[in-house]
Amino acid sequence: MSTLVTVAGGTGRLGTLVVRRLRAAGRPVRVLTREADHAAHLLPLGVHVVVADVRRPGSLPAAVAGSSVVVSALHGFLGPRGTSPETVDDLGNRALFDASAAAGADVVMMSVVGAASDSPFELFAAKYAAEQHLRRLGIAWTIVRSTAFLETWVGVIRETAMRSGRPVVFGPGANPVNFALVEDVAGAVVSAVEDPASRGRVLEVGGPEDLTLTELATRVATADGRPLPPRHVPTAVLRLLAATVGRLNPQLGRQTRAALAMEREDLTFPAGGDGYR
Ligand SMILES: NC(=O)c1ccc[n+]([C@@H]2O[C@H](COP(=O)([O-])OP(=O)(O)OC[C@H]3O[C@@H](n4cnc5c(N)ncnc54)[C@H](OP(=O)(O)O)[C@@H]3O)[C@@H](O)[C@H]2O)c1
Repeated sequence: MSTLVTVAGGTGRLGTLVVRRLRAAGRPVRVLTREADHAAHLLPLGVHVVVADVRRPGSLPAAVAGSSVVVSALHGFLGPRGTSPETVDDLGNRALFDASAAAGADVVMMSVVGAASDSPFELFAAKYAAEQHLRRLGIAWTIVRSTAFLETWVGVIRETAMRSGRPVVFGPGANPVNFALVEDVAGAVVSAVEDPASRGRVLEVGGPEDLTLTELATRVATADGRPLPPRHVPTAVLRLLAATVGRLNPQLGRQTRAALAMEREDLTFPAGGDGYR
């Protein structure tokens, strides 16, 4: 029986940790990437690399052939034209799950806490649509939903602070947000791969604390030895950007709409049920 795990998104922040853990446990791993170079840091772990793109369904059957489990740890929130939550997280995931079903593989899908058809976050609605497709396929699946990755947001804050030392927060940054540690999420994904009892379940992962973006930016600046308050892009400017440049530049449009929604939506983590902190 095959023990091969194929990790789509294995080159990313979460995927890299998942691949490391799977290899440390002795699992054969195949990394699915759009560019072989993106997987260069994983080659010393002894992984196989396959070049495919979930937006090209024809590339997927060979990429998942022989897998016991296929992990989807990819997203299309950022990226040039053609890469979007719709093309990658919804349609791309569907194509990946169809190919996995045809190959007889189980699927472990990375999703988001708050995934819902009516979410104002395009990413969350796309993840939800793909989750529903997966549930309907009649194969064995586990969905892992996480809150925002702390490491991703610390990176974003550090990038904006580069020149002035003062991080930029889009909007007032006053809404509490739960942040998960990416190592905890990787642990949950690997448990889902290894544990057949998790099939048919949605596992939710969150972090120990809810913080506003202003609080997080202040903590990062202080930890970096520059205890300066963040600068804020006013909500009115975000609205203007969304309605003007955001219409021409899909990625900017998505980011500004997401920043606006981040101020309104409940992004705390309701622990309980399948969720754990
Ligand atoms: N970051 C967060 O705050 C957060 C929160 C909750 C859930 N999640 C979920 O956790 C997972 C990992 O997120 P991350 O932040 O670690 O990701 P990341 O570092 O931004 O990496 C994104 C990955 O997606 C892959 N990818 C993008 N478009 C693709 C396509 N068309 N075909 C195949 N692969 C494609 C990339 O692979 P190549 O570039 O090698 O092709 C890369 O490995 C995602 O499912 C994400 O939605 C993230």
